[in-house]
Amino acid sequence: MPSAQEPLKRVLVTGGAGYIASHVIFALQETRRFKVISIDNHHNSHPKSLQRVAQIARDALPPNASEQDKESTVIDAWTCDLRNREQVRNVFEHYGKDGIWGVIHIAAYKAVGESSEIPLTYYENNVGATISLLQIMSEYDCTRIVYSSSATVYGTPPIIPIPETTRMKADSPYGKTKVMDETIIEDVCSAEPTRWSALSLRYFNPAGAHPSGLIGEDPLGRPMNLLPLLSHMAIGLVKDSKLQVFGQDYPTPDGTCVRDYLHVVDLAKGHLLALDALGPDSHVFDTCPTNARFKAYNLGKGHGMSVLEMVDAMRKATGFDYKYEVIGRRHGDVPELVADPTLARKELGFNAPQDLVTMCRDLWNWQTKNPKGYGGPDEVVPAGATPTLHQL
Ligand code: UD1
Repeated sequence: MPSAQEPLKRVLVTGGAGYIASHVIFALQETRRFKVISIDNHHNSHPKSLQRVAQIARDALPPNASEQDKESTVIDAWTCDLRNREQVRNVFEHYGKDGIWGVIHIAAYKAVGESSEIPLTYYENNVGATISLLQIMSEYDCTRIVYSSSATVYGTPPIIPIPETTRMKADSPYGKTKVMDETIIEDVCSAEPTRWSALSLRYFNPAGAHPSGLIGEDPLGRPMNLLPLLSHMAIGLVKDSKLQVFGQDYPTPDGTCVRDYLHVVDLAKGHLLALDALGPDSHVFDTCPTNARFKAYNLGKGHGMSVLEMVDAMRKATGFDYKYEVIGRRHGDVPELVADPTLARKELGFNAPQDLVTMCRDLWNWQTKNPKGYGGPDEVVPAGATPTLHQL
């Protein structure tokens, strides 16, 4: 239980307004142990999501909430671009040396296909910005980081379910940025093992939304990923008469690709567990092969669902009569990505208990309550601007 004696720990979340991070912020605020600072340039997110998260947190406060509890629901939301070193330094300077307990680094570009077309943009945004963030963190004695990685680091994995010991061999530039960032963070932990500690979380396929329907996924333009696309089809945002299924000739039970979908609220709680595992009482690093305090965990359910099974689940949730046609394979797709989640369960206490019916129901609840997502144009931070702080 939160105690009035323990001051709030400041945690900075990058990409705070995005789909995953908004749910992570909720998970942090729910504990009333953290003061959340968000950084976002709103490239692919809407500032309204942060107002909504803060609202959920305020609504969840007990009647006898203390002043500190109330303070824990206020987000320091900075409009700021991670590639702009001065802007990021300004944010850290605002809180001073040792003023931020830890960072959850989620901001990144994430479209696999696009990353092959504009690799330099991906390396600059995902790798360059991470290096600069780590340098500024070090300057300000902020040396705990939870990193948002992806199952895509495994490429086509030799063993399913995939254990974390699997070699990393990403196929796309996007996947390679995740491998590079993990490598860089591990090297930083090796160089200064008494200062740095880091956990990398390899997400499988996040799905669903917070059950309130106040926050959810609001992709920029036409969704490329399966679930938001199915949801947009059912609400009429995309006019495609048929879903194009990318290949039915894979070595899987129904021939379509299999993925490990997990509820975004469960995924978000994994970040809280990881953050706590960076604390002084943690034993997760006891089994590290060297004295570098770095470890990676799979966050998945350990169950695979095929594309056709997902279409069927969304049909049940939405009542929409999806039609589909099978077309050729999508470049870069792998037949099966299913986590072995044993390590995260054993060492972090991570679980992803919510089932597919709940994921689809919550996705549809968000979509029907917000047929056009958060709506309105995104506020993008101009290059060279001073970061602006909004307390939400
Ligand atoms: C991909 C990336 C992942 C990235 C995520 C978010 C890989 C292996 N994974 O996940 O790293 O974080 O996107 O951008 O590159 N599908 C169709 N028709 C569609 C859309 C999707 O059949 O119109 C199929 C795909 O072939 C795939 C499944 O649905 O088998 C899920 O696709 P998607 O939602 O895009 O996620 P991933 O490709 O698994």
